[in-house]
Amino acid sequence: MRFFRAAPRVLPAQPTEAAVLADLYRRAWSDCQRLLDPRLVDPRLVGDLTPPAAEVRCWFLGGFEIFRVRHEGQLVGAVRCCFPTSTCHVDRLAVDPDARGRGVGHLLLEHAVGRARRAGVTRVWVQVSPKLAAAHALFRSFGCRETGRLLARYWGEEIVLLELSV
Ligand SMILES: CC(C)(COP(=O)(O)OP(=O)(O)OC[C@H]1O[C@@H](n2cnc3c(N)ncnc32)[C@H](O)[C@@H]1OP(=O)(O)O)[C@@H](O)C(=O)NCCC(=O)NCCS
Repeated sequence: MRFFRAAPRVLPAQPTEAAVLADLYRRAWSDCQRLLDPRLVDPRLVGDLTPPAAEVRCWFLGGFEIFRVRHEGQLVGAVRCCFPTSTCHVDRLAVDPDARGRGVGHLLLEHAVGRARRAGVTRVWVQVSPKLAAAHALFRSFGCRETGRLLARYWGEEIVLLELSV
C-alpha cells in the first residue's frame, strides 16, 4: 500500500454500516460532481449513485455483497457485487476523496475480482461513464475491455460496458 503504514483490509460491510456507506457515497460523488462540471454531467447519474441510508440498508436484504475498507476508524472505500447469470456485476465502487491515489480503489477491485473467481463465474461486468477518467483507468489496468456503449436513458449519460474474463 503506497501511503498506509499497514495495508487496510477489505471486509464485508454490515447492515449497521448503511448510514456511513451512504455518507461515503455522498462525499465520493460530490467531489466527482465538481470534477465533472455539473453543467456537463446529468444530475440523475450523481443522484442515483448517492443513495440514502434506507436504500443502502435494502442492499443487505439479499442479492448483493458489499465490501468496504476502513482506515483509522473511518470508512474510506466500498464496492458492491452481485451475480446475475454466471457473471459478477461490480458497481458502487467509491473511495473517499481524502484517501484517493493510495491504492484503495485497486484493493477493492482486486477483492471484487477475487470474489468473482471464488464464485466460479467466468466474467466480470462493469458500467462506467467515459467521463470518469480515474475509474476508467482503474478498470483498464485490470484488463477490462470495452464491449459496447449505450445511452443510459435513466441517467441521460453515455455508458461504457466493460468486461473482464476471470
Ligand atoms: C475511481 C476511484 C474508485 C479510484 O480510487 P483510488 O483509491 O483513488 O484508486 P487507486 O489509488 O487504487 O488507483 C488505482 C489506479 O486507478 C487509476 N487512477 C486512479 N486515480 C486516477 C486519476 N486521478 N487519473 C487517472 N487514473 C487514475 C490508475 O490506473 C491507478 O493506478 P496507478 O496508481 O498504478 O497509476 C476513485 O477515484 C473514486 O471513488 N471515484 C469516484 C467514484 C467512481 O468513479 N466510481 C466508479 C464508478 S464505475
